[in-house]
Amino acid sequence: MEDFVFHARTKIIFGRNTEVQTGASIKPFIGDKKVLLHYGQGSIVRSGLYDRVVDSLKAEGIEFVELGGVVPNPRLALVREGIEMCRSQDIGFILAVGGGSVIDSAKAIAIGACAGDDFWERHYVSDEPVIEAIPIGTVLTIPAAGSEASPGTVVTDEPNERKLYAVSAEVVPMVSILNPELTLTLPADQTAYGASDMLAHIMERYFTNTEHVEVTDCLCEGAMRAIIKIAPLVLAEPDNYDYRAEIMLAGMVAHNDSLGIGRIGDWMTHDIEHELSAIWDIAHGAGLAVMFPAWMQHVHRSNIPRFVRFAENVFDVREGSDEEKIQKAIDALRAWYQSIGLCTSLRELEAVEQDKFELMAERCVGDGARGGIMQLTKNDIAEIYRIAWQ
Ligand code: NZQ
Ligand code: ZN
Repeated sequence: MEDFVFHARTKIIFGRNTEVQTGASIKPFIGDKKVLLHYGQGSIVRSGLYDRVVDSLKAEGIEFVELGGVVPNPRLALVREGIEMCRSQDIGFILAVGGGSVIDSAKAIAIGACAGDDFWERHYVSDEPVIEAIPIGTVLTIPAAGSEASPGTVVTDEPNERKLYAVSAEVVPMVSILNPELTLTLPADQTAYGASDMLAHIMERYFTNTEHVEVTDCLCEGAMRAIIKIAPLVLAEPDNYDYRAEIMLAGMVAHNDSLGIGRIGDWMTHDIEHELSAIWDIAHGAGLAVMFPAWMQHVHRSNIPRFVRFAENVFDVREGSDEEKIQKAIDALRAWYQSIGLCTSLRELEAVEQDKFELMAERCVGDGARGGIMQLTKNDIAEIYRIAWQ
């Protein structure tokens, strides 16, 4: 097992009607400054959540300004607008109300407001550590990215077709409010993208060469089995609070790193997917459903016992040689994605063009190699895109 520091600083307030606690729960972090209320394209207005959050801020006497309009795969241009607002309006806290895109945009604003105009080059293009950020809080409306308790922020520089991330303990939210009732309005496709993303967050941690990690192996396997079981139930009964609650908890646990401690994760499938959504603006969870089986197909021979364990303990594959078990598990994973309505071939994803595979692979790793289970070169990655196309 690897050495680790685990500091879960996010206070999670989970359950029905919890958004009325927004004002009171963020008040200790604001001081005498204002809040920037950040949100997406209107789902929170239509559902009435916007009004309830605003009421809770007013009830605590919290002054706020607002910036809506975050789109999925959040854009750097809006982040820069938010940074300007922070500077001109004396903002001391950012409240993100929405999904991973809103939260990630809020985190980027939080970093940029402290770091200066070159924050993108320093912290996203390069990986200079973030030393300061405005504190943030969230009211989550979609279980998916896990950004409500993660140190990550992923932002798209649209003109340059780059989707890049920064990771810093400074942007882990102080408070996140998770009310499963708020997710009842989610359409089936977003529900499925979310399930795909949270499963991927666990697989990225599970597929490791680190040994003697039995505790987190078992936690990962249990959480993966739960997501595989619950996601189809949520889709079959979208108004069922209890299923929505289970999947919302899973999304948070999948990415607050409690399942990744002491082990070196892989994360290449995420990087490979981000190149896809950077160019074609597809949903992250949709891209992962296509890329994960293709990645497994390409890399599994680097650590056969780990993939056999996955086959046996996650998909109950007991029969056959090691290679046959792994193939059955990859087939079972594809079948699960399809059962929740997701495509498993790049060919089926609208707009994706094969002639960009080499460019995407090059952008992903340059002339070097990266990865946990297996070090991937640009040739490996182009091959993974080709497998995903079949
Ligand atoms: O903008 P609005 O109107 O709110 O609509 C959103 C959006 O269109 C809608 N939606 C959200 N909650 C809803 C709802 N519609 C009806 N009812 C509700 N309750 O859903 C759409 C998708 O929202 P988005 O925030 O984009 O989804 P998600 O949470 O999946 O976030 C995806 C982003 O997170 C990044 C992804 O790359 C992608 O950019 N990730 C962030 C991570 C992190 N920060 O740790 C890790 C992940 O691996 C991921 O990369
Ligand atoms: Zn993800």
